[in-house]
Amino acid sequence: MQLFIEKDYSALSNKAAQIFANEIRQKPDLVIGLATGGTPKGTYKELIRMHREEGLDFSKIVSFNLDEYLGLTPDNPQSYKYYMFENLFNHINIQRENVHIPDGLVSDINSYCKKYDKEIEKYGGIDLQLLGIGVNGHIGFNEPADEIIVDTHLTDLSKDTIKANSRYFDSADQVPTKAITMGIGSIMKAKKILLLASGQAKAEIMAKLLNNNTITTKTPASLLMLHQDVTIIMDEEAASGIKNI
Ligand code: F6R
Repeated sequence: MQLFIEKDYSALSNKAAQIFANEIRQKPDLVIGLATGGTPKGTYKELIRMHREEGLDFSKIVSFNLDEYLGLTPDNPQSYKYYMFENLFNHINIQRENVHIPDGLVSDINSYCKKYDKEIEKYGGIDLQLLGIGVNGHIGFNEPADEIIVDTHLTDLSKDTIKANSRYFDSADQVPTKAITMGIGSIMKAKKILLLASGQAKAEIMAKLLNNNTITTKTPASLLMLHQDVTIIMDEEAASGIKNI
């Protein structure tokens, strides 16, 4: 595991974008796994700048998003599909047919989820997976539990997640209670994983994750300790509770 502690959110975002850009330059048809939420916005902004000013080329890139709320239409500004086009895809030269985001409106969810994993496999798996982390240690929407589902699946969002994500909605009762998420197995199959954590709100979970040399499904991100190529980038606030670094 490689750890980087950057001064602030802006430096963290630039570092993450740099890692993405290096991988894209080495493999122009890179298969990337993408996250939404507040954390990756700065990374996406920097990638857009690199596309515009440095010609970073996304024309052969294939993307798979981690998750989508159940029941939100793509034109709903809170949907992750809307987010991805608004914050990245509309501003780079990725081909629309290479973009994959779970569809939160499908009726046969089980077979849809199986197809999503198959589609990832068809492209040879994810080369570089970007992750944020929930205050409760979730990755994607794999919430703390006694057991965690391996493949892409429909999940209930935990109370903690609904509360945390209500900051993006007018009120907590507008936050969907279910989502489709890539499973822990789908995430762990990625060849390289890049986890970002920014701000004081993430200090407690990052300390829990990195001060304890243990894994538990109650902190889903701890399972990343079993992956052989994980890079974690934190800003100083998110890293403030970590000992021995
Ligand atoms: C989003 C996702 C979530 C977020 C996490 C952190 O696609 O999969 O796991 O990465 O909830 O969200 P922010 O960055 O908003 O704190």
